[in-house]
Amino acid sequence: MAHRDRWASRQAFIMAAVGSAIGLGNLWRFPMVAYANGGGAFLIPYVVALLTAGVPLMILEYSLGSFFQKSTPGSLRAADKRFEMIGWWALGVGTTISLYYAVIMGWSWDYLACSFGQPWCDNAQLFFDNLLGVTDGVGYIGRISWPALIGLAVTWACIYWIIKKGVLRVGKVVMITVPLPAILLLFILIRGLTLPGALEGLKYYLTPDFGALTNARTWLQAYAQVFFSLSLGFGILTAYASYLPKKSDIANNAFITSFADAGFAFFAGFAVFSVLGYLAQAQGVPVESVVKGGPSLAFVIYPTAMSLMPFAPVIAAMFFITLLTLGIDSAFSIVEGAVAGLRDKWHISQERATLYFCIFGFFGGLIFTTGAGYYWLDIVDRWMNDYGLVVIGFLECIAIGWFYGTDKLRAYINEVSDFDIGIWWDIFIKWVTPLALGWALVSNVVNDIRQPYGDYPGWALVAGGWGVVAVIVIVAALITRVKPVVPKEES
Ligand code: PHE
Repeated sequence: MAHRDRWASRQAFIMAAVGSAIGLGNLWRFPMVAYANGGGAFLIPYVVALLTAGVPLMILEYSLGSFFQKSTPGSLRAADKRFEMIGWWALGVGTTISLYYAVIMGWSWDYLACSFGQPWCDNAQLFFDNLLGVTDGVGYIGRISWPALIGLAVTWACIYWIIKKGVLRVGKVVMITVPLPAILLLFILIRGLTLPGALEGLKYYLTPDFGALTNARTWLQAYAQVFFSLSLGFGILTAYASYLPKKSDIANNAFITSFADAGFAFFAGFAVFSVLGYLAQAQGVPVESVVKGGPSLAFVIYPTAMSLMPFAPVIAAMFFITLLTLGIDSAFSIVEGAVAGLRDKWHISQERATLYFCIFGFFGGLIFTTGAGYYWLDIVDRWMNDYGLVVIGFLECIAIGWFYGTDKLRAYINEVSDFDIGIWWDIFIKWVTPLALGWALVSNVVNDIRQPYGDYPGWALVAGGWGVVAVIVIVAALITRVKPVVPKEES
């Protein structure tokens, strides 16, 4: 057996997993989802989703990697040949996400540069026009945006540099990219809280509306947010865990990762809403009119608010460094998940696999740097999260829960973990988690049929949504049919 790359320490592994989990989603997704679904009361469904689906699935993904010592397709294949394709599907979804995640990070580089006085940041509203050159519709490709393109290249260069040498370097990088955004965000939070209007903003974030708990949508949103945020279903955590020695704790690591991620999301909400409260007051508008999630929050709303503050450039630079350090460890974790899969199958070197992947990623992301890129990003993102991840999590539970058997894995987990997990885990993996995911899936399909997503033309949803899903499934099936390369006997 060729020897496998190893983390330098348990701490390095945990930090890397936490770094993957804590990403842009904690900052621009969680606070908005909470706000729209019961405010403070949302913490109840969120914690329920975390415990009934997030933690059990994370334990499953960790245990697969550390038990079989392989990436996601390899581990699933080792469990049962028929399961390999699920793993490639996961990597396909992850790869697709990495294409546009890197583009978003590219915008963050541009904004960081412009916090030091580039012209297009004078007015944050210029994001769509000047930086991206957004066209009138998804069918008008427009031109490639140079700043976006340069930012994209910088992002891929960073990713390449960080993972080309394997997880030892990753372990070092995350010692900076995990704590740094937390510290910077704390500064931004303190700044935010001392601004007029901040408390009004926090009221919007936290005032509990317990009525929302009777709404099925609230629960669905809680499950969806947990999966996205914990980086489940992308083949990342299994790959990361495969670099642990076989005798490493699993259960405790899963709880630590999940709660660190949830805690960070909750905390990020304070930084976001205090600033939104300030912006609303400064503009003399109600708070709800400035609440927006996603790229608009990071690249339009927040910059507008920062431009009104004293020392605007310093705060802005801090904020964009926060975004970059939040995002980079999520971005390279996807790449590492895919690279691990390619290496296990074809036995090529880490450096080469990484190089090929990064080149592919750069060119694959070009579409998102065009004038129509923003629209395509929105469509692809929606499908990957609502269909990619949910389907994979569901299939993993069925494959292991109903075919391979949870008892074998649980016996292994309990042998190595800091504490034992009970029969509850089997029940979750066999019943509760797949039911929750199956329900999410069915409601997504029903909603999409009842009301097609956004106001895009049908062909765009077919191409960017179902079409991309179809390509991923076909590629996954083709790769599965290729026989793995058997490594040469080591002399
Ligand atoms: N968990 C990351 C976040 O919250 C997102 C992510 C998705 C990371 C997919 C890796 C893979 O932003």
